[in-house]
Amino acid sequence: MEDNKMLKAIDLNDSLNSENKKVFETFEKENVIYFVLAKDLKNADMPLFYETIKTFFQKLTKSIKVDVDSFISFANKDLRRCSIMTNLVTAMRFWEKDPFTLKTKDVKELKHEAIVDESLRFMYEKAQTIAESQFFCRRLQDTPSDIMTPIKFVEEVQELFKPFESKVKISVMDKKQLEEKGMNLILAVNKGSSIEPRLLTIEYRNSDSEELFAYVGKGITFDSGGMSLKPSSAMKWMKFDMSGAAIVASTLYALVKNEIETNVVAVMPLTENMLSPNAVRPDDIVKSYSGLTVEIDNTDAEGRLILADALTYAARDLKATKIFDVATLTGAMIFSLGDTFSGCWATSDEDWKNVRTTSHWAGEFIWRLPFHDDFIKPLKSDFADLKNSSNDRKAGSSRAACFLKEFTDGVNYIHFDVAATADKNDRGQGVMIKTLYRFAKEHIKKECDKHHCGC
Ligand code: BES
Ligand code: ZN
Ligand code: ZN
Repeated sequence: MEDNKMLKAIDLNDSLNSENKKVFETFEKENVIYFVLAKDLKNADMPLFYETIKTFFQKLTKSIKVDVDSFISFANKDLRRCSIMTNLVTAMRFWEKDPFTLKTKDVKELKHEAIVDESLRFMYEKAQTIAESQFFCRRLQDTPSDIMTPIKFVEEVQELFKPFESKVKISVMDKKQLEEKGMNLILAVNKGSSIEPRLLTIEYRNSDSEELFAYVGKGITFDSGGMSLKPSSAMKWMKFDMSGAAIVASTLYALVKNEIETNVVAVMPLTENMLSPNAVRPDDIVKSYSGLTVEIDNTDAEGRLILADALTYAARDLKATKIFDVATLTGAMIFSLGDTFSGCWATSDEDWKNVRTTSHWAGEFIWRLPFHDDFIKPLKSDFADLKNSSNDRKAGSSRAACFLKEFTDGVNYIHFDVAATADKNDRGQGVMIKTLYRFAKEHIKKECDKHHCGC
């Protein structure tokens, strides 16, 4: 009976491994599927662990039992128990059911059973929350754009946070408020749409630290390219262009539900990018919220426009001490890092070091790419302070990153381009949630750190 199968971690050198299977390979004996691990696994091995085990669960056609404790026993000084737990649980929940479906038949649903010792229950529950938040993210991502409009996105987030109303401050700016505020880049992108834009923020303060991280997410609920229309092959899957916003909202949910001591505000500019007689056009010039004027070179480079206003808002109004953004920003990512790594840009080496370590814990592949003055030179405009794109195809992803940095008021800035990783095989992946979650948990400086009291 396949239903009774059990997944169990086993050491490479265990005598049961008579076929000498390698680390992360599996073999089966008497209804037990053994997943080979080793004592000297490192934190840096977790991205491959997560991918491998996720693929293992994807192939299952029946529910199985998972001996969670056997996996956790491979923790060591470098590889944390909570990292193994989080990656195992998020992978095992990933394929249990489709986050969104309108299929009327053949809907597949599995429910794997986790066997967890009482002493690990707490850690398991925390990991379950992260799996749940990833599921929420993927549902928003997969939902078609005629349903998942900026208005609907806001409603979904409000609904999600209902049980935690006293713990967070959710605010929503509508079109009129964006006009009053002068968020003209968000408004410019919205001009071609029949649906109003929104700027959604979720503020969570649960630490006495003076630090506040801003997690800014690109929320283009559909990217047609606007007047600089995309060809049809490139327009397919542009419902996923709100992935950044879904990722940051979901991360906040996990932090709040798990009662993490941290201070984070998620900022989500939400709009469609459509074309119409009213749409913004190439050569138009728009005054950003920061005050810089921007010549629209290509209306399809809209992500950087809405993010620019949101980044300035995070720096000036919210007074964030570190600003992160997550965006499906540039198609060029597929050439630089394939769909394996998310691109990361950081203004500080120290931040990069910490983000990299955190991404290992989180089982997520990221790779650093550079900011450089050469990349922004082609964005010099004859009529405005800068333009949003150029025909120069060199380092397009870095050019977008450099453009965004201009709007951060010099605050420490970490940018993630998830254009090639946010969705795979036509499904949202909920990437970067685990990394952002862990970073907020680990890297908010406490009052006491400042005075070096050593606690
Ligand atoms: N949303 C796209 C980027 C994208 C492309 C995401 C493919 C996922 C898959 C973005 O708004 C865009 O269109 N970027 C342009 C920028 C160009 C006009 C400078 C691009 O990458 O082609
Ligand atoms: Zn675009
Ligand atoms: Zn876009």
